[in-house]
Amino acid sequence: MDVALADEVERRRNLAIISHPDAGKTTLTEKLLLYGGAISQAGAVKAKGEQRRATSDFMELEQQRGISISSTVLSYEYDGKQVNVLDTPGHQDFSEDTYRTLAAADNAVMLVDAAKGLEPQTRKLFEVARLRRLPLFTFVNKLDRPSLSPYELIDQIEAEFGISCCPLLWPVGSGDRFRGVLERGARRVHLFARGERGKKAEEAAVVSLDDDRLEALIGDGELYAQLIDDVEMLDGLTDPLDLDRLKRGEQTPVLFGSAMTNFGAQRSWRGGAVPRRRPTPLLAAGAGDEETVEPTSEDFSGFVFKLQANTDPKHRDRIAYVRVCSGRFEKGLKVKHSRLRGQQLTLAQAQTLLGAERSTLDGTSYPGDVVGIPFSPGQMAIGDTLYTGSRRISFAKIPSFSPEIFARCINPTPSKREPHLLPEPPPPPFFLEAYKSFNKGIEQLLNEGAVQQLLERGDTGGGVPILAAVGPLQLEVVSSRLSSEYSVEVQYEMMPQTQARWAMAGWEEVDAVLSERKLLNVKTLEDVYGRPVLLFTSGWTLDNAVAEVGERLQLRPYALA
Ligand code: G4P
Repeated sequence: MDVALADEVERRRNLAIISHPDAGKTTLTEKLLLYGGAISQAGAVKAKGEQRRATSDFMELEQQRGISISSTVLSYEYDGKQVNVLDTPGHQDFSEDTYRTLAAADNAVMLVDAAKGLEPQTRKLFEVARLRRLPLFTFVNKLDRPSLSPYELIDQIEAEFGISCCPLLWPVGSGDRFRGVLERGARRVHLFARGERGKKAEEAAVVSLDDDRLEALIGDGELYAQLIDDVEMLDGLTDPLDLDRLKRGEQTPVLFGSAMTNFGAQRSWRGGAVPRRRPTPLLAAGAGDEETVEPTSEDFSGFVFKLQANTDPKHRDRIAYVRVCSGRFEKGLKVKHSRLRGQQLTLAQAQTLLGAERSTLDGTSYPGDVVGIPFSPGQMAIGDTLYTGSRRISFAKIPSFSPEIFARCINPTPSKREPHLLPEPPPPPFFLEAYKSFNKGIEQLLNEGAVQQLLERGDTGGGVPILAAVGPLQLEVVSSRLSSEYSVEVQYEMMPQTQARWAMAGWEEVDAVLSERKLLNVKTLEDVYGRPVLLFTSGWTLDNAVAEVGERLQLRPYALA
């Protein structure tokens, strides 16, 4: 047993924050870093205008849009633990990257805006966290603003997500009457003094629930009475914290606070609530059967969960983000590549990641960490496993998520994609170049998992590619990269469909069903593996189809490769 390695694994905590845009993810991340000592001043993660652009927006597209597309990792030490916060892009136009980042996380923090409750993106991301059985912590933010009742918020989470809530920090008032939080376990109230923005919050006082001065310190008889009622209600209504249920994703600790005014964030952290789970053993397909890879195994293993191109506009580079799963990673490590049948690679240029600033890796990375590895086209794809040792392993595939946007990607040149299908007489040479670049570019981007591709049935590669994405941003990234890297300007013809289901029963069954009955507004395409995919124009038509033939066709929102 390698004790030093086991200690490092024990020390690792990694988490991804899931939230709807504007719930305060950037602000909360910043506060966690501030309290973790990784930054000395609030505003280092998110600063307005030029500074922000200079530090985090490294793609041209990001600069134009003033948003952050890339998932990066922020690392710092807290209380002897090495914490890695995997950033999930929270923009409205979010894409599969957000989902995939959850595949690399051991814990998730769900951020909820206290005035809005659960929002669409929170719901989608929660489903992924559940799929991965991630321990989930809930931070209800913006209590300094008028908020929904905390009971209403908890009911909403329990009813919609079927997860039991265990409030650890409970608010005393909200909006202008926000006075602080009750730390239920310790039965004390942390009274809040409105601090200066950007600075660490000052606690006005920490008072035991049984302290006679509490009512006077709260300074609001009604709020005090409510607090005393709440204590009783909560003890009667909610289950105590159960770490096993938390680890199985069946219970979520709930913390109320205000990230902007710093209240609650620090307390949550100190309470040791976030994050709980250390890197855990992962299932992998071995040479024969499935096997479990222990993080403390001396052989290195890791998988690619995200690829990014052109992170530095000066050098056309490609970075594969690898989550370390076992062993140690050091610069110059010789690894084997599972998809490339054990082909050996020397990772001489690996980088650690701290926000957008990537520094050359000179230390060692351990399970739970993320390293950035430059690669040449075709070398890395989402889900690839890298490993050392004699056993060839391959971690479980990261699922492709159900696309909601479909567009025909129109080649700049008319007619077909393949040069041999061009009309006579042969096209001028620049046409051929454009064809080649288009095909090469599309193929490369598909390989990297930038977007999914669907085909008209029976298309053997000559037709117009149909791109399927989770968010519009993915399509923009594809066209911007085709333009900057392959000098091809493509046009999109958007399709009206908004939902997709894979019919795992196969074409024969699909044909049989369609010959027996007419399904409303359904379009049939196939994926790159020839499997039938049904597209629907609305949730209603989809629900209808699921009710009628869902079981027979084995309709699934996505399919593993
Ligand atoms: P995001 O990354 O999830 O999109 O959210 P972000 O942190 O950027 O926060 C969105 C807005 O909500 C910001 O305001 C931020 O200041 C505000 N906010 C975050 N936490 C709190 C909180 O606890 N209380 C209150 N009252 N507001 C909060 P903005 O006007 O968009 O930007 P800024 O001018 O404040 O930077």
